[in-house]
Amino acid sequence: MVGVAGFEPATPASRTQCSTGLSHTPTKNAAYSVGFGRPQAAHLRILVTVETSLKTRILPAGTAATAAAADVLATGGLVAFPTETVYGLGADATNATAVAHLYQAKGRPAFNPLIAHVGDLAAARRIARFDAVATALAEAFWPGPLTLVLPKAEDCPVAELATAGLDTVAVRVPAHPIARDILRAFGRPVVAPSANLSGHVSPTTAEHVASDLAGRIDLIVDGGPVEVGVESTIVGCFARATLLRPGGLPRSEIERALGHKLEQLPADAESDSGQPLAPGMLASHYAPRTNVRLNADRIEPGEALLAFGPLRISGVDSAAAVMNLSAGGDLAEAAANLFGHLRALDTTAARAIAVMPIPHEGLGEAINDRLRRAAVGRE
Ligand code: TXA
Ligand code: MG
Repeated sequence: MVGVAGFEPATPASRTQCSTGLSHTPTKNAAYSVGFGRPQAAHLRILVTVETSLKTRILPAGTAATAAAADVLATGGLVAFPTETVYGLGADATNATAVAHLYQAKGRPAFNPLIAHVGDLAAARRIARFDAVATALAEAFWPGPLTLVLPKAEDCPVAELATAGLDTVAVRVPAHPIARDILRAFGRPVVAPSANLSGHVSPTTAEHVASDLAGRIDLIVDGGPVEVGVESTIVGCFARATLLRPGGLPRSEIERALGHKLEQLPADAESDSGQPLAPGMLASHYAPRTNVRLNADRIEPGEALLAFGPLRISGVDSAAAVMNLSAGGDLAEAAANLFGHLRALDTTAARAIAVMPIPHEGLGEAINDRLRRAAVGRE
């Protein structure tokens, strides 16, 4: 079978299929053409063999798991591992076939470029060019939940497929000790999107990864729940530093380090078109199957409640289910709980998930961004 690896942004119907686990239609050794809609990237079309009924090993984090992860990466395989933000699905960034398998395993729209993860700034300089602003940001926040989009270095070893044919590359130095151990043991850059099926909720535990990707990847390194719970903040170091995605590092901290405000992406960059400046910020993303209703001030019959702070909301007593992101109103706790709670409420067969208003300051910007994407098209 020949097809394009990477669905269009998931429709509610395809999401239902995804979340029931794709193992019911295993396709062994099918040939997929991984390509792009954009004509300038047509030369990137390659044929690869995909395996969707793999035996996925799950190993507790430790020396044996690190060695196994490095081995899987070196042989072109796929390994999920914890970072401080969310679990990532890693592949050798320099191996286009491994990257193609990664897009295929995630069912990721192929125009959506990946983040190259490296161990330190010196390794990052081998793949991207750092100006003074980029250097200052890297020194201030790495290792940590910040991704920089930078011009590619000359002889950038990251596969064109991983950067979707752009002349920029996204780079991050993660802080999680297990991610760092794996990067050190492997010794090359690792591309790692969140370890979920494309369009689904990002995973914050190894169990989340397994429920989406078992049978599609080689190895899951289980390091327990992650700390931050939302993906890294992405800053484009263009003529002016631009916030491309709010995330685990609050904007205010970056602006304090820069001494000025970050530029904002134009509003139309968030369309479903997936054009380069819109950094994969598909309007519908992070989506559970159940409808999500934002800024709820009452619970309608049959709805589940995703709460924040004290449960002062009418209809709460008859809610189909209630989960609180943070009873004490702590945004860091809420971020860490966000995707896990969305997943849990998605299994309750509620008519919809009503979400209480969440303040926009600090990590609230990233939380509201993810919730808005979860709700797109189905409010
Ligand atoms: O916290 C994180 O960043 C996690 C962990 C695993 O590190 N990774 C993650 O990757 O969230 P992913 O692939 O789900 O999100 C990467 C984002 C996408 O929105 C993509 O479009 C954008 O980065 N991106 C990558 N390269 C880019 C580039 N050259 N220009 C603009 N955006 C880029
Ligand atoms: Mg993702």
